[in-house]
Amino acid sequence: MTVQALFPTHVYGAALQQRGGPAFNRALLAECRQLREDDAAGRRWSAKNYPGGYTSYGSAHRLQQISPTFADLERKLARHVRAFAARLQWDLSSRTLAMTDCWVNIMPRHVVHGLHLHPLSSLSGTYYVQVPPGSPGLKFEDPRLDRFMAAPPRRADCAPQNRPWFTMAAAAGRVVLFESWLRHEVAANAVEAERISISFNYHWC
Ligand code: NI
Repeated sequence: MTVQALFPTHVYGAALQQRGGPAFNRALLAECRQLREDDAAGRRWSAKNYPGGYTSYGSAHRLQQISPTFADLERKLARHVRAFAARLQWDLSSRTLAMTDCWVNIMPRHVVHGLHLHPLSSLSGTYYVQVPPGSPGLKFEDPRLDRFMAAPPRRADCAPQNRPWFTMAAAAGRVVLFESWLRHEVAANAVEAERISISFNYHWC
């Protein structure tokens, strides 16, 4: 008998670096908070589109091009992106997989980031700068959910790969990568302290 697990959905998780993580995160944290202070357009955009929180997605979304610290993050991410692309067995020989966008997300208590995907991108991910105990992880949805129709529910104790949703715990210093078509969300932050992350897109062009 043979049962193959076909068409898998890959999600990558790793520590960004082995050494120097806390110092690098302190530098990023200071810049994220300074950006929120300076970025009036971003605060206005966030008030409409990210209630209670701050994101530079609508205002300063190419931070790797304007901040040496974020450029450093792009350099540190490169080996992770290469490793994930290799795992996906992408053939990148004819074009370059390059970072197109990189932005800040600050989630105080009760802020939520609803289900979404990242259109016009190939690979997306998040790097965690500050994750207070009790704040939410990154929840992924089975991309086939709309086709299950009469499929029986899964047992409560089923293996992670058979669940319709999977939440990857967030932790400061960790990077998560996924294909940009994979829908995901961040549940409401239940704790007082701010959950701070940096998200990014790569495009194959
Ligand atoms: Ni996202």
